[in-house]
Amino acid sequence: VKKDRKVLNEARIRFKGISANEAFARICVSGFVISAVGALGRTLTAEELADIKTSVSEAVTNSVVHGYRDSKGDVSMTMRLFSDGELYISITDKGCGIEDVSKAREPLYTTDPMNDRCGMGFSIMESFMTRLTVTSAPGKGTKVVMTKKLSLEEEDK
Ligand SMILES: Nc1ncnc2c1ncn2[C@@H]1O[C@H](COP(=O)(O)OP(=O)(O)OP(=O)(O)O)[C@@H](O)[C@H]1O
Ligand SMILES: [Mg+2]
Repeated sequence: VKKDRKVLNEARIRFKGISANEAFARICVSGFVISAVGALGRTLTAEELADIKTSVSEAVTNSVVHGYRDSKGDVSMTMRLFSDGELYISITDKGCGIEDVSKAREPLYTTDPMNDRCGMGFSIMESFMTRLTVTSAPGKGTKVVMTKKLSLEEEDK
């Protein structure tokens, strides 16, 4: 049975897959979620906001450093807030893709140990968000979908 829920707000952005845009993506998602939740007269906890920003940062960094390691291209981010308080974020690149997604998602697995990578990006996204889905095709790109159930606390009176 499908839950009767609505999209309350939605935004999509597309930006160049370069490291300067890791901070830009964090700022975008903060702006979206703060204003979308604020429009309901509710607030985010500081912890929720930090978890969302960190997770977006990890996903965008992966697109930049891994996906576009040998090529150039854009990263797309879609953000949605649903009426049941679920936040949906997708981050998509058209980079090199991932050969074995379940292996890539294992803690400490990295294909890039020389550059201070410790293989924890997906584990961080998984623990900070409610759900993480990764779909990828070698040579075509990667799509990371993260959802988080927000507490939507009443604004302080
Ligand atoms: N967008 C992507 N495109 C191609 N490969 C990716 C992408 N995202 C992740 N990967 C692959 O999955 C592996 C694991 O990613 P994860 O973020 O967990 O660790 P990491 O990026 O290697 O290290 P860390 O995130 O701790 O700096 C990467 O090493 C890379 O091989
Ligand atoms: Mg990473």
